[in-house]
Amino acid sequence: MKITIRTIKEKKAKAEKIVALTAYDYPTAKILDAVGIDIILVGDSLGNVVLGYENTLPVTMEEMLHHTRAVKRGIRNALLVGDMPFLSYQTSVEEGIRNAGLFIKAGAEAVKIEGGRQFIPLIERLTRSGIPVMGHIGLTPQWIHSFGGYRIQGRTAKDALALLEDAHLLEKAGVFSLVLEGVPVEVAKLITESLSIPTIGIGAGMHCDGQILVFHDLFGWGDFVPKHAKVMIDLKAVISEGVRRYIEEVRQGIFPQEDNAVFMNEEEAEILRKEWSQRKSSEG
Ligand code: KIV
Repeated sequence: MKITIRTIKEKKAKAEKIVALTAYDYPTAKILDAVGIDIILVGDSLGNVVLGYENTLPVTMEEMLHHTRAVKRGIRNALLVGDMPFLSYQTSVEEGIRNAGLFIKAGAEAVKIEGGRQFIPLIERLTRSGIPVMGHIGLTPQWIHSFGGYRIQGRTAKDALALLEDAHLLEKAGVFSLVLEGVPVEVAKLITESLSIPTIGIGAGMHCDGQILVFHDLFGWGDFVPKHAKVMIDLKAVISEGVRRYIEEVRQGIFPQEDNAVFMNEEEAEILRKEWSQRKSSEG
């Protein structure tokens, strides 16, 4: 069944957990979609996780759109959300609308925007223009320099209240769901209970309406495993073992075998050998 923003909102009413993951390419998107993930986010984590940048800040619109198109080709049912990269929406509402529109043209069905109340004019314009928005507050990685690093947000009552206010302002502005990242369990619980739209947590505990993780964190495939993640299968070990076996088999002449090769029909092979040896002998 095709997942839409309507389905996502209904899941909260039915108390059904929403499950989301990031993906950055066609084959991964195809697997996630086939096993029934609700939301696929082409996260700006593309920058650090896949492209090897130090953090998410350098990733460009061009790179994000390229990967969004690839992911789109692998999806039949999941809701596809494109993550607005740093500097694609901070400069003006017009610029934000234009870049969000480019995500929709690339196949995304919604965009995600990091930040609170300062983006309300943009969120209102986007939702009025038919571009659904997923909000994202808390430890928003595009703010690392302002936060002084990857620090949990909302630890004090004052900071937590500001997050609660942001959550409600974003809901009012029209976001269809809200990512809560790196906030204490108590804060995520209060926000989740007081909103009518679903919250999707990452490092925000068990009370959110859904969960999202970076694909590579689920498989121990990143540079490190963050505290909020759980490695379901150690894919780094599985891939390393496969590559080690390949190296070994090629070096020892075990791979490839006849099954992995194509042969000419015997008649053609015979003609080829004859012609070749005649040519060699006429060359002297
Ligand atoms: O870029 C990203 O991967 C995210 C997360 C919420 C998973 O924004």
